[in-house]
Amino acid sequence: MPQFWKPGTEKPRLLDDEEGGLLFFSSSHSSSSGFGYSSIERLRQRLPVYKYRTAILYLVETHSTTIVVGETGSGKTTQIPQYLKEAGWADGGRVIACTQPRRLAVQAVASRVAEEMGVKLGEEVGYTIRFEDITKNGVTMIKVLTDGALLREMMDDPLLTKYSVIMVDEAHERSISTDILLGLLKKIQRRRPELRLIISSATIEAKSMSDFFNTSKKRRETEGGVQGPRMDPAILSVEGRGFNVQIHYMEEPVSNYVQAAVSTVLSIHDKEPMGDILVFLTGQDDIDAVVQMLNEEIQSRGRNSSGLLTLPLYSGLPRAEQELVFTSTPRGKRKVVISTNVAETSLTLEGIVYVVDSGFSKQRVYDPISDIENLVVAPISKASARQRAGRAGRIRPGKCYRLYTEEYFINEMATEGIPEIQRSNLVSCVIQLKALGIDNILGFDWPASPSPEAMVRALEVLYSLGVLDDDAKLTSPAGFQVAEIPLDPMISKMILSSSQLGCSEEIITIAAILSIQSIWVSGRGAQKELDEAKLRFATAEGDHVTFLNVYKGFFQSGKSSQWCHKNFVNYHAMKKVIEIRDQLRRTAQRIGISLKSCEGDMLAVRKAITTGFFANACHLEAYSHSGKYKTIRGSQEVYIHPSSVLFRVNPKWVIYHSLVSTDRQYMRNVISIDPSWLTEVAPHFYQHQRPTSMLH
Ligand code: CDP
Ligand code: MG
Repeated sequence: MPQFWKPGTEKPRLLDDEEGGLLFFSSSHSSSSGFGYSSIERLRQRLPVYKYRTAILYLVETHSTTIVVGETGSGKTTQIPQYLKEAGWADGGRVIACTQPRRLAVQAVASRVAEEMGVKLGEEVGYTIRFEDITKNGVTMIKVLTDGALLREMMDDPLLTKYSVIMVDEAHERSISTDILLGLLKKIQRRRPELRLIISSATIEAKSMSDFFNTSKKRRETEGGVQGPRMDPAILSVEGRGFNVQIHYMEEPVSNYVQAAVSTVLSIHDKEPMGDILVFLTGQDDIDAVVQMLNEEIQSRGRNSSGLLTLPLYSGLPRAEQELVFTSTPRGKRKVVISTNVAETSLTLEGIVYVVDSGFSKQRVYDPISDIENLVVAPISKASARQRAGRAGRIRPGKCYRLYTEEYFINEMATEGIPEIQRSNLVSCVIQLKALGIDNILGFDWPASPSPEAMVRALEVLYSLGVLDDDAKLTSPAGFQVAEIPLDPMISKMILSSSQLGCSEEIITIAAILSIQSIWVSGRGAQKELDEAKLRFATAEGDHVTFLNVYKGFFQSGKSSQWCHKNFVNYHAMKKVIEIRDQLRRTAQRIGISLKSCEGDMLAVRKAITTGFFANACHLEAYSHSGKYKTIRGSQEVYIHPSSVLFRVNPKWVIYHSLVSTDRQYMRNVISIDPSWLTEVAPHFYQHQRPTSMLH
């Protein structure tokens, strides 16, 4: 048990208030720690941001761009859109947008704002995420949406004319879509000076954001006395009311943070006064593991420990379970929320007094040389560690237990994270910009430039997909059709080619299933039964065809939840699949893709998959008994993931949908192929590879 805690020397204050150039509206607020829950209005007025209401509205009125920096929980996300609405920015049918990098946060923020305004979600306050549009034209005034969804809207309305104010929230996260959006919004502002932007961020890198938007000095001088907003950005810092957080470090590095998290939670529960606990882990797998271990411990201890309520929080969770984390803790109980970094800044949970920080999160990593992108568990930055710690100081002084040593924090943790655009595959990004008519992508005004190698790779893949022509322009109609489908271009291409191969109904089902996390029930602690259930649907052709069998079975059962339960299939996931499938069919019809079923011809289905995913082809190493594959493209060593129906089957040639990296690189969702299809569907891509004779 890692009980060797050592108090940290770090100053617990979170915001560095000394940043030069900040415009401070000092407020003499008293720390209002009383929690008499009165009316919603009273609660709203107690939030730190309320003191800045007038200042924010003044700055938005007078400046094109306003940057608002403030501690998490100060009310930026839920309050600013309401202030804007109250001040008339949604009058005359105009809409106020508030973007979020995470889907989970979009839904939570929209329901909260609707609740505060006393309106039904989907009316005055609505939200949009991919495959889900809960808004009403002409009625919705505040629209919360992912930054990706707003980018999609630009394809129909490049100047985003219906919006009066766009608040780009959580800008410090520097997600790939946020960065693209910021670059495009800067362009839009030149054409629509009346559009107001609010960039809101939890950490102070406001200066670089401000520099990015501040390119208009000259223009302002020449404009002289002309009426209109100032083009240079205003910066406002909202002073939070965070309480001190005592930091504790490990004396020695831990080898297993899952185990360490469990024992730390138990020791807090045993020794510390009441107050909820928030544990930061990386994803569904380690979260489910910790929840299970804690529950087992609670059961084995009997009634004494029953005061501990364990609640997971990650994006694949059904809505009802997500909402549980926001309900207040029953008297005499202690809630422990085990979360991904969605609780780092996007969501605020009331009542948290203790934070346990694993020091890791799941991050996207891309290597343009091997052309491999995957999600890996990687160390967080100091900035993230401070944010996480801050979550403990919301209602009273708190404690943060870092599952790493102080030396590690000081000497080895990076100061800031790297923007996602510099560690991502750029295929989706490039096609979106091309579809918006941005041809000179290298010359695009990025908040942080992506690497030229990654850019070249993306162009190469899009060219091989037949989406770009020799002049790097979208091909007609294929390129435009692929860009219209709101999915990864490789999936979209697979859908497009399925219409020629006569299997679009099947491929659309596969695309819908691939766009959700998993259709299987996990975490029921019955791996063996799950594996057996999978075998009922498995085929030697691979996972994609297996999915079709599950879908068919679900349909034949009359979409029965009992059928799902019996077969370890996730009922909510299947309902979502049907919804997504319907939407994709509508999109397909709109862009002229004919819907046909191949009536069981799985050769056509596998070929269509190859047409989209040829770049992910792998070959089993000769004489390999360990199941070692090499990617054709970069000769990287990869293995079939144990969750795949082809695990241990090891066909000679396969194509994978995605990679996950743990101790090795594992291929998830794998299908067997005939290698001759590769040169047939992507001659450009494979022309410099092994001679075709070697492909057999
Ligand atoms: O955006 P920022 O982090 O500055 O704060 P916010 O998300 O607007 O949250 C302001 C307050 O609303 C916090 O005290 C939250 O506890 C509360 N809130 C809530 O109770 N339930 C939600 N779903 C969202 C916010
Ligand atoms: Mg926020």
